[in-house]
Amino acid sequence: MIFVTGGAGFIGANFVLDWLAANQEGVVNLDKLTYAGNLHNLSSLDGDARHVFVQGDIGDTALLGRLLAEHRPRAIVNFAAESHVDRSIHGAEDFIATNVVGTFRLLESVRGYWSALAAAEKAAFRFLHVSTDEVYGSLAPDAPAFTEDHVYEPNSPYSASKAASDHLVRAWHHTHGLPVLTTNCSNNYGPLHFPEKLIPLMIVNALAGKPLPVYGDGQQVRDWLYVSDHCGAIRRVLEAGRVGETYNVGGWNEKANLSIVHTVCDLLDELSPRADGQSYRAQITHVADRPGHDRRYAIDARKIERELGWRPAETFDSGIRKTVAWYLAHPDWVRDVQSGAYREWISAQYAQGGAA
Ligand code: NAD
Ligand code: DAU
Repeated sequence: MIFVTGGAGFIGANFVLDWLAANQEGVVNLDKLTYAGNLHNLSSLDGDARHVFVQGDIGDTALLGRLLAEHRPRAIVNFAAESHVDRSIHGAEDFIATNVVGTFRLLESVRGYWSALAAAEKAAFRFLHVSTDEVYGSLAPDAPAFTEDHVYEPNSPYSASKAASDHLVRAWHHTHGLPVLTTNCSNNYGPLHFPEKLIPLMIVNALAGKPLPVYGDGQQVRDWLYVSDHCGAIRRVLEAGRVGETYNVGGWNEKANLSIVHTVCDLLDELSPRADGQSYRAQITHVADRPGHDRRYAIDARKIERELGWRPAETFDSGIRKTVAWYLAHPDWVRDVQSGAYREWISAQYAQGGAA
């Protein structure tokens, strides 16, 4: 079986669901169930013996040792992280604890397990670390997209913690020979996305009649990838990626934030129009910018295409339509994740009129 961490979060849960839809091979899923982890994301797997869920921390060395010895996985896929940039600005402690110290402890535990495997299992073993394009920092408007050779220039506490984790993974390969793979992906969107991130926040706020808070001028550019395409890229890298290599994953889909918000509003106007006949665009509000806000990310995904034949299958038009339709069809999921803790975060983050 494979051992997934953070598999109750947005991308991890999509990955586990896609994996078990396509494979008989089981998944051990270790997730701490922070505010971002949600077992409802996995409820369709209730009673499926191929899925073993364990609530726990990637920093818990004793637990890791027990789980690795019991389940003897052939691969690790490490999604577990604190993932929201704005939260890392408010407080970075959890980001250092999980993204840096947690990754270190996971690497050490896995190294202990891997080094005792028989030769054939040892050679076939993989540790895949899921990372982000944010480690490369911000691009000028006309600069070429990030290749795997781009210098690391993280600008937020979140991206600095992910950069640190990437360096640890690299070092465990170069120093200890651990067979690692790293993927650096652009912005994902799709079902199960926690509504603190741009696209799901805009959908749920629009439907609730609330302001749609656009940071600064809204001209910051991100490269958007539908989540199932990211999951497919990870499966492909796990299957055939060259040990020790990094693969950038992106959607060839650069868009300014304001244009994303307009698209979401237009789709909602079509699929769930406002009772007063006005467009949801009327709810757009420009608020204070995010401190240290990176202006542009863009991924050059030619290496993964050239070496592994991966390209995104979903266009932005089809992916964003599916996403909006998914949120409209799942009001219960939205209500469940909007717990007291969620409400506290939203009021702290936006109370002063912005992200500052
Ligand atoms: P998420 O915040 O939705 O989910 C993170 C999951 O990790 C949650 O289920 C949480 O409970 C779990 N977790 C947190 N700390 C843990 C710990 N100490 N031990 C075990 N589990 C823990 O994040 P996501 O958007 O699904 O991102 C998953 C991974 O992909 C992260 O590593 C992130 O850096 C990376 N990534 C995300 C994006 C994106 O656009 N969302 C893009 C590129 C890379
Ligand atoms: O690039 C990959 C990264 O994408 C991942 O590593 C992160 O885990 C993930 O959260 C995401 O980071 P971003 O900061 O790009 O995503 P977010 O959805 O928070 O913001 C997207 C853009 O929208 C960004 O420029 C900030 C802006 N924004 C965001 C929010 C929440 C707003 O204008 N208003 C908002 O309310």
